[in-house]
Amino acid sequence: MTRPETHLKVEGIYKTFRQAGHSEKVLSDVSFDVTKGSIVGIIGKSGAGKSTLLRCLNGLEKPDDGQIYFEGKDITSLKANELRILRQNIGVIFQSFNLLSARTVFQNVALPLELLEVSSSTQKDKIEKILKLVGLFHKRDAYPSQLSGGQRQRVAIARALVVDATLLLCDEFTSALDPHTTVEILELLQELNKTLGITIVFVTHDINVVKEIAEKVCVLDHGKIVEKGPVEKIFINPTHKITKELLSELLKDNLPEFIQHKLHQTGQENDDLVLKLVFNNQTSTRPIIAELIQFWKVPINIMSGNLDHIGKETFGHLVISLKHNLASSDKIIAFLKENHVEVHQLGYIKWQ
Ligand SMILES: Nc1ncnc2c1ncn2[C@@H]1O[C@H](COP(=O)(O)OP(=O)(O)OP(=O)(O)O)[C@@H](O)[C@H]1O
Ligand SMILES: [Mg+2]
Repeated sequence: MTRPETHLKVEGIYKTFRQAGHSEKVLSDVSFDVTKGSIVGIIGKSGAGKSTLLRCLNGLEKPDDGQIYFEGKDITSLKANELRILRQNIGVIFQSFNLLSARTVFQNVALPLELLEVSSSTQKDKIEKILKLVGLFHKRDAYPSQLSGGQRQRVAIARALVVDATLLLCDEFTSALDPHTTVEILELLQELNKTLGITIVFVTHDINVVKEIAEKVCVLDHGKIVEKGPVEKIFINPTHKITKELLSELLKDNLPEFIQHKLHQTGQENDDLVLKLVFNNQTSTRPIIAELIQFWKVPINIMSGNLDHIGKETFGHLVISLKHNLASSDKIIAFLKENHVEVHQLGYIKWQ
């Protein structure tokens, strides 16, 4: 088996913005690799440094320290004209599409080719081919104002890729789209990734987008990568507080407020014990709850829950409550743990 080729290698980059006597460290020792043809998501809260990092990747921003190798070339050491040539292989799309309103779809996509002084017959061939790929050939003479948000983003994708880009950088590219259009754009990117072999690095604060298309994820917090790896691994077993916080949005694993108010930490007679069970792929297909009820003869109240899937992996949680009884509670927890269910004791609740 041939080793996967590294398309982009980010090594220890730092960036500080300085203005009017004030300085802000925005990126700190950021390193990660992107394999050719893969899809990588960078996720983090607002202000974490995601857009700055993405701008460094195509040379729009120069890091203070560290290297970024794109197809083996360190882009941090390139001169302006060398960078311009290199950028022909790097397409960028943003949340706000950035289309020229006085130009048609065809003319918008033509822009980067005009800048490269590509002959008009080659331009026509390339533009028609890419417009067919993004499903907008029939709108080639329309103006941006005559298009839906999803169609505008398709034009932006076509314009980014028309110069034979091998890497596509996307910054919050679904934020301006409704959920249905977001799904369509994600499907288009996956298709382009498969058919053209384009590497995609995207930035988002929507963990759903990561779940849908990314193979790897980097979690950025205050300019540092706090967690990175295959999406299944990070989603099933997040270790950093920020990752857990971002994931809780996806799994909605926060208990309803009225239940949180009722929870207390010392159990008394007639209280229910509240447990959060975290499932991974080994356990989520097993009828653990049924086994629990049958084997231990305990009535179980399911208070909240969410199971989700990434590829073939299943992960998620259930919050349950059961009658508190010291002896049996301990045994039940031991049974769950033996069956590889992660158990968190959230507290006790009195229902009446
Ligand atoms: N050109 C700049 N000059 C000075 N400060 C900047 C500049 N660009 C970004 N910053 C600062 O760097 C920090 C990180 O900004 P960045 O845009 O990278 O965050 P982000 O993670 O993309 O956030 P969001 O999710 O809100 O888009 C912010 O505090 C921002 O004010
Ligand atoms: Mg940003």
